[in-house]
Amino acid sequence: MEKIEYSLTQRRLRSNTQIRSLASAVRLTHHGFIQPLFVEEGLLEKRSVAGLNAVCVDTLDSVLTTIQADVDAGIVKFLLFPVPASKSVSSFDFSFARYVIRKIREVFGSSIWLACDICLCSYTSHGHCGLLTADQQRLLNHETVEVLSGYALELAEAGVDFVAPSDMMDGRIAAIRSRLDTHGFDFVGIMSYAAKFSSQFYGPFRDACHSSPKSKGLSNRKTYQMSPANPNDAIASALRDEEEGADILMVKPAALYTDVIQSLRAQTLKPIAAYHVSGEYAAIETLVEKGLAERAFAHLEVWTALQRSGAGIIISYAARNAKGWIEKIEL
Ligand code: PBG
Repeated sequence: MEKIEYSLTQRRLRSNTQIRSLASAVRLTHHGFIQPLFVEEGLLEKRSVAGLNAVCVDTLDSVLTTIQADVDAGIVKFLLFPVPASKSVSSFDFSFARYVIRKIREVFGSSIWLACDICLCSYTSHGHCGLLTADQQRLLNHETVEVLSGYALELAEAGVDFVAPSDMMDGRIAAIRSRLDTHGFDFVGIMSYAAKFSSQFYGPFRDACHSSPKSKGLSNRKTYQMSPANPNDAIASALRDEEEGADILMVKPAALYTDVIQSLRAQTLKPIAAYHVSGEYAAIETLVEKGLAERAFAHLEVWTALQRSGAGIIISYAARNAKGWIEKIEL
């Protein structure tokens, strides 16, 4: 008799859709998704963003329609990026952000979860995430944190569920937490951009928010965002943010940093959010446009990788498709 040297030990678990589903260690659900929203002050018609197929910068009116469509598609969690009409070096007006939030709350009440980004890069004329020294060489940490915690309070007063600081100053989480608590907003949470790397993959976002750094002295964000070569900094900063009171820890970009997500997962009990950023999204869209990948499958593959690495929350520009795709498509 012929000796059997091997059996289909692995392929038996791949033989049909039912067994593949049973054998899955990771199951996506749309409940873990957050949809980013851009709203620009003074915009008369919603506009598209280069590279961000199907994602628009909304007007004050159109954002309500966008949210309604997303709710109908099963997505009820949002991360808002207000884009103000005027920019400044040191005096900022947050009234537009407040107005948008109030408006959204008026219409949707508590049927949606609303977080708002906290950063100054859409507000500063030089595009940096905080206040600069007079010679524009350095970001002023304490002064920036002071402004940001005031901004957080205004957003809380307007009705956000969470604030999401993305500026990367030291001590901002403690400052925001204490400012919120002392003003009676202890129920407002903080989703910290805890591990945010200095990345080439924020390009389409900066277009959307007109927020590219353009000061002569400081042409990039390397003195405040993390080095891709220093995952230890990411873990240390995330754990520090947790100690200071962050409720959700975010890793960003996402797909390039699953090692960081995995390592952080082993060191915290807080939920971890992975932000699949604009350039990562645009990279998929470009492949799709060229006929080199299938859109839904490509996004589902990335999302699966993020969940596999330990992220329970996924922030994606394609979040509004999550329910439909997850229900209908086998990866
Ligand atoms: C603001 C901020 C950025 C992103 C989120 N908040 C851009 C940046 O740091 O330059 C990037 C999000 C994306 O690319 O999708 N600091």
